[in-house]
Amino acid sequence: MTDAAPITPGYDAGGVTAFYEMNGSTYRNPHEDEVRSTLRLAVEQWHLALDDVLDLACGSGEATLELRDLGASEVTGIDPYTQAAYFDRTGSTAESLTFADVGDGALEGRSYSLVVCSYALHLCELSRLAAVCIALVRVAPALLILSPHKRPVIKQGWGWAPPEEFVHRRVHARLHRSLL
Ligand SMILES: C[S@@+](CC[C@H](N)C(=O)[O-])C[C@H]1O[C@@H](n2cnc3c(N)ncnc32)[C@H](O)[C@@H]1O
Repeated sequence: MTDAAPITPGYDAGGVTAFYEMNGSTYRNPHEDEVRSTLRLAVEQWHLALDDVLDLACGSGEATLELRDLGASEVTGIDPYTQAAYFDRTGSTAESLTFADVGDGALEGRSYSLVVCSYALHLCELSRLAAVCIALVRVAPALLILSPHKRPVIKQGWGWAPPEEFVHRRVHARLHRSLL
């Protein structure tokens, strides 16, 4: 299977941060339908607990809206660039935290039933990925990554078991369970 087409050619010009600083308020994922149906399958197949979900790098609420439709009691969105877009669609305010903030301990002391990171964790700088993964395993028993490809690879030693995975409509779903 080939990777899905890049969703934002603008990344090439000024980089990821510049792209979302300029376009975050109007961000929409053109693959939202595929993301939502894959998320639905993942929740059903893996019996994921939706009591209190963290939607990390939540965009305009693509995952949040599906999680709500699936009966999630509480969904917290985090994203440094898309607050306006997230509020427009979900009526909730996303917290303005970057991957760097998460890696530096911004979530310390919290507890979630699940972290979902859709089409975003591969945007985390590789030098920060270990710290982000270790921070996430301290706050949740399960991490669901949705991605148009196989990245990022979550390495042994970062607190997460190797993934259970499937591909649906070209979206890769990978579930990592906590080893803590
Ligand atoms: C391709 S979008 C995915 C959004 C949404 N989760 C989805 O499924 O469509 C990538 C998201 O990562 C966020 N992002 C980019 N750089 C980030 C960073 N350094 N820290 C946290 N989030 C970041 C962007 O604001 C954007 O919402």
